[in-house]
Amino acid sequence: MAIEKVAVAGCGLMGSGIAQVCAQSGFPTVVREVNEALLEKGLKSIEKNLDRLVEKGSLTAADRDAARGRLKGTTKIEDLAGADIVIEAIIEQLAAKREFWSALEPLCPKHVIFASNTSSLSITEMAFATSRPRNFVGMHFFNPVPVMKLVEVIRTIATDPAAYDEAHAFALRLGKTPVRTSDRTGFIVNRLLVPYLLDAVRALEEGVASIEDIDNSMKLGCGHPMGPLTLLDFVGLDTTHYIAEIMFNEFREKRFASPPLLKRMVMAGWNGRKAGRGFYDYSDPKNPRPMKLG
Ligand code: CAA
Repeated sequence: MAIEKVAVAGCGLMGSGIAQVCAQSGFPTVVREVNEALLEKGLKSIEKNLDRLVEKGSLTAADRDAARGRLKGTTKIEDLAGADIVIEAIIEQLAAKREFWSALEPLCPKHVIFASNTSSLSITEMAFATSRPRNFVGMHFFNPVPVMKLVEVIRTIATDPAAYDEAHAFALRLGKTPVRTSDRTGFIVNRLLVPYLLDAVRALEEGVASIEDIDNSMKLGCGHPMGPLTLLDFVGLDTTHYIAEIMFNEFREKRFASPPLLKRMVMAGWNGRKAGRGFYDYSDPKNPRPMKLG
């Protein structure tokens, strides 16, 4: 059954981006947050993003209004039940996700596809928190969701090939480029990206080069849009450390071990751009300055 209506659980950074893309792609979309304040914050950020697209001339005012019109916010889990696919982008904690899926499942008709946007938790473990693991996939989007083209579409050992193909086709209908992968921690991107980011921290820790020189090397030498330490600040040091810990637990390989400097920065709360400081100081957000770390 082709997907016509979409539900998104969570309206934070990722959930709001996913909801925006779904609504812009023509799907009636309901997005749920746990309380009114968080919902309002998420919806405001979508509106701001849509307005910016209109200001830049990449979206007409009529298309913005139509996208906004397709989007409905709610705090009630029951309101997610009318969709053909539910994409979950709530807090990155397995217990919270399992609880969400087991509460939602009894409300949904049998055909509904369940998709988690997790970057590091096991899709299989979530799938088996429901009684229909065959309908369960991962759909991992990238930040900023409206800009980044990739979606990793993840199957488990129990996923029905028809549900998997439907999720893959749905990502195409969102204007994204889906890639097929299986439920191994980190999937494709984080399996390659996380060791690279951790190595950049190790290089800094070992005095190989300064923050700016490490970043400029990868930007100008390899054509990356951001250097690794800027990217760490962008993704969040706490988030990267959390993902690395899960990957280390899965694979027991040194390349996934968080270096001591990263751990210390997370302990200090210097979690990157959202915290105002990480490898850079964002007191002047337009002009980030490298931090002096000890
Ligand atoms: N929301 C919507 N649009 C945004 C945006 C946001 N948060 N940030 C930037 N943009 C848009 C800009 O409006 C601009 O659009 P136009 O070209 O139409 O004008 C475009 O993106 C480029 O932005 P800028 O010119 O301001 O800056 P930039 O060229 O440096 O691009 C960037 C910004 C797209 C973020 C780019 O730096 C980039 O691609 N960085 C790498 C991001 C990345 O690697 N993301 C993945 C992180 S890993 C992850 O998400 C998964 C995980 O599991 C941890």
